[in-house]
Amino acid sequence: MKGKGIRIPKNSAQNIINEIKRKNYYNNDLKIIDDGNFIIIPVKDYFSLTDYKISEYEFDEMVRKRNYRDFLNLDEGIRKMLPKSYDRIGNIVIIKLEKNLTEYEKEISEAILKMHKNVRTVAVDTGVKGEFRIRNLKIIHGNVEDTIYVENGIRMFANPFKVYFSPRLSNERKYISDIIEDNEVVFDLFCGSGPFSMNISRKRKAIIYSIDKNPYGIFLLRKSMKINNIENIIPIAGDIRIVLNNLPVADRIIMDLPFNSKDFLKYVRNNVRSGTKIHMYIMSERQNLMKMDEEWVSLKNITEVHQYSPRISMFRIDMEVK
Ligand SMILES: C[S@@+](CC[C@H](N)C(=O)[O-])C[C@H]1O[C@@H](n2cnc3c(N)ncnc32)[C@H](O)[C@@H]1O
Repeated sequence: MKGKGIRIPKNSAQNIINEIKRKNYYNNDLKIIDDGNFIIIPVKDYFSLTDYKISEYEFDEMVRKRNYRDFLNLDEGIRKMLPKSYDRIGNIVIIKLEKNLTEYEKEISEAILKMHKNVRTVAVDTGVKGEFRIRNLKIIHGNVEDTIYVENGIRMFANPFKVYFSPRLSNERKYISDIIEDNEVVFDLFCGSGPFSMNISRKRKAIIYSIDKNPYGIFLLRKSMKINNIENIIPIAGDIRIVLNNLPVADRIIMDLPFNSKDFLKYVRNNVRSGTKIHMYIMSERQNLMKMDEEWVSLKNITEVHQYSPRISMFRIDMEVK
């Protein structure tokens, strides 16, 4: 495809590209041409930096990544309100829509189905509710069913209609499974369908106690263990306030109940030793991050995991028992 470009020496290219991008002269639709010791950078028609000679060249077009919005025929005003992304959990897509997009739900769902041939269910997310933290999901297409989700190369079952599940924590689960050592006794408290446990189990010869009050989460974890031939996870359905009474002392404890984790800290007190590591996830404003004033733990590190709303983020608080 013909387009305007400037030919510049390769050794000074990066600075020039940065400048052109900063000034919004870079033409993203075309590919840079490699021309020996030179490169030809595609620029927009209104490019006006006098230091460079602008000419016409034959460029290859950039292959644009398709988006579900490309399949929608809606007014520009409506298009602007469409979310750029959504969560995909196996063959289920969960999308958040502003209230005034309700009448376009069907069209949006059809566009998503055209985009991903193996998606079977599309649902609109209207928030998380109740003790089990299950999402309020309105099905636009398909049915409630278990799905297989692949995270960090591990196949596991999920069902966001019945058990809390967030694909956004996959890096966090990888991080935790990387720092655990073989033979540790690990508690995955509030495990849901067990994605932390599954990540750890695949990497380490640890003994993992995975507890959730939602029996369907434990049912899915058992199914995931089966398809992966995993034996070092002990799944337990129950309230951690009771279950902990029958568990041994842990080397490491994961607490993922972000709106309430700190209220549960006191319950692990009889299952720790000096040196037990605790990773607690909490939602908080940065300036209100909790002070770890419990006398029996020392605060080691605080990491922002992701933003939750304009003011609130999820943080991981790393602690060690004194
Ligand atoms: C944020 S979700 C956990 C998600 C999970 N760790 C993951 O990575 O997908 C919190 C979980 O805590 C469970 N829960 C809430 N209160 C509980 C309690 N008292 N005892 C055990 N589990 C509880 C809920 O059923 C829910 O599955």
